[in-house]
Amino acid sequence: MHADSRGSAAGYAAEPTDMARLQEAIHGADFDYDAGSPHLSHPQLRSAILGEIRALVAAQFKASGRCRVLEVGAGHGAFTDHVLAMGAEVTVTEMSRPSLDMLQSRYAHNSQAVLLFDPDGQQAFAREDRFDLVLCVSVLHHIPDYETFVHRVTGLIEEGGAFASFQDPSWYPRRSPGSVRLDRLMYLAWRISKGQNVGRGIATQLRRFRGVLDESNPSDMVEYHLMRNGVDEQALVGVLEPRFDDVRLWEYFSTQGRWMQQLGARVRSPQTFGIIATRRRSGGADGP
Ligand SMILES: C[S@@+](CC[C@H](N)C(=O)[O-])C[C@H]1O[C@@H](n2cnc3c(N)ncnc32)[C@H](O)[C@@H]1O
Repeated sequence: MHADSRGSAAGYAAEPTDMARLQEAIHGADFDYDAGSPHLSHPQLRSAILGEIRALVAAQFKASGRCRVLEVGAGHGAFTDHVLAMGAEVTVTEMSRPSLDMLQSRYAHNSQAVLLFDPDGQQAFAREDRFDLVLCVSVLHHIPDYETFVHRVTGLIEEGGAFASFQDPSWYPRRSPGSVRLDRLMYLAWRISKGQNVGRGIATQLRRFRGVLDESNPSDMVEYHLMRNGVDEQALVGVLEPRFDDVRLWEYFSTQGRWMQQLGARVRSPQTFGIIATRRRSGGADGP
């Protein structure tokens, strides 16, 4: 699961603690998750994802009367709020300390929420907990070896449970080079329209174009697979299918700009995906 095209040859570039430091450099105390995130800033996308999550939580309540959720990388809790409001017990892992602090103040009086600072991305595995639903929203592309991660995390899911991930860039090598370039242009156009660190954005895109990414630069490391080859949705289907009765790939269009989103959703082919796996088979952590 350590294919060269997904990271560096012998494993992945950054050590986990470096990754936490880099995540915090971008996801700091005043980071606005909504502004640069199409799935948070566009109501249609946000409610489509929320609809999927709600249905998964409701199905677990219907089946067993409870729903224990692990939410990986919850950010400022845009989806955590809703899952808690449905009565689920939620464990959150979050690699950015400032984001975790924010979640702690937000859920200080909610006994249904367990919030874990996760500097090495391994905290969920350090406990004995089992879950009915694992959620990753806009997170897998931050994780260098996401295939191994998904394999391990689905080992924590109870029989009958579900795994769902949303908002990752579809694998670039399966797309036309023009389509990938157009995404980058749309992103740059959006940044220019916002006047947001335009020079830095252009420099980042140039490094990406020339394939010379800088492992000490948060811009190149935090959006790890966005800057490289995207996330291999078919490889993830391959990881999930042996463990779940049903695996559904949901492909859709997303970009930051409001008008570009409205137009693109009508005329462009999908370049973002979610993946929803339900009815976990028996087998435990080391199962198929
Ligand atoms: C793009 S944000 C998404 C936040 C939230 N899920 C949302 O959709 O609003 C990604 C978050 O994942 C966190 N993160 C990245 N890698 C992680 C890992 N391996 N374990 C836990 N959190 C991680 C980052 O600190 C950041 O807060």
